[in-house]
Amino acid sequence: APSDPDLVERARAAKEKLGDRVFVLGHHYQRDEVIQFADVTGDSFKLARDAAARPEAEYIVFCGVHFMAESADILTGDHQQVVLPDLAAGCSMADMATAEQVAECWDVLTEAGVADVTVPVSYMNSSADIKAFTGRHGGTICTSSNAKRALDWAFAQGEKVLFLPDQHLGRNTAVRDMGMSLEDCVVYNPHKPNGGLTAEELRAAKMILWRGHCSVHGRFTLESVNDVRERVPGINVLVHPECRHEVVAAADHVGSTEHIIKTLEAAPAGSKWAVGTELNLVRRLANRFAPEGKEVVFLDRTVCFCSTMNRIDLPHLVWALESLVDGKVVNRIQVDPETEKFAKLALERMLALP
Ligand code: 13P
Ligand code: SF4
Repeated sequence: APSDPDLVERARAAKEKLGDRVFVLGHHYQRDEVIQFADVTGDSFKLARDAAARPEAEYIVFCGVHFMAESADILTGDHQQVVLPDLAAGCSMADMATAEQVAECWDVLTEAGVADVTVPVSYMNSSADIKAFTGRHGGTICTSSNAKRALDWAFAQGEKVLFLPDQHLGRNTAVRDMGMSLEDCVVYNPHKPNGGLTAEELRAAKMILWRGHCSVHGRFTLESVNDVRERVPGINVLVHPECRHEVVAAADHVGSTEHIIKTLEAAPAGSKWAVGTELNLVRRLANRFAPEGKEVVFLDRTVCFCSTMNRIDLPHLVWALESLVDGKVVNRIQVDPETEKFAKLALERMLALP
């Protein structure tokens, strides 16, 4: 649906009044009505890197989900206040690993005698607590655009990796990019005693994958891939690495949201693409590339928005911006100093990856 012209005008006016005092970041999964007001758009890595790009801005309005706003707070100065226009914009995957569960997992690894040789690697899509755990135990953060480099780094520090919280990104990177086998990976289930694993299994594994996943990308199946190939002969299948392993194995190209965009930019006219990622982005790409004669379709027949990304809508953005104009900071995201210290260590290790 087209955005409400009155709200568009109010957002524009509020941004103009705030000028350089506000810096608006937008993740690629945001609605069109919101992304049009972003000063910078990007995948999770680019947004983490760019968050600190405007140290003169008092306010950072993060159009994305909670863990991204937390990371922006961690990576920017104390004089900058981060605002998430709707506090209910969480991430179901990030919620699948709590600090208590991860501490318990570390006890299980310690009991099995493998904690000393295990390096935690946590996906950006995790709470600041999990990032702090990662930093405290000598690990790094990764995103879908640098997961291989993060694993290369981690395996130079230790023998095993505890990969949190997305089992699919962990498995896909290990098997597709690192030459490991499926048997090198075990899944730690936080809802079972000892993660559902024996000490023997933990000792034999190279990758200990947390049992988390993205419910949006989990909707794509091998059948979606086979189906679209049958319907559209010659189509290229391009998916995000949060998809299940069999989907990634059957795809032609795999990468982060930024990589997906770059791949389509470089594609020749006349090419056809089925894209397996969030629908706001796929629709925007379909509209953008149609005039160039590139056909972009959604990988599955069912609708697949990320409901929490979609919580940030134009009314929430207008409310956040107009409040700032009135000198009121609403929905501030502020990580406590102790958590921030160790989470920052883990994030900085990621930013320093070769
Ligand atoms: P990227 O933007 O890093 O590809 O991540 C996708 C995602 O699920 C963010 O929540
Ligand atoms: Fe979380 Fe998946 Fe939504 Fe990304 S797309 S924010 S991983 S639920």
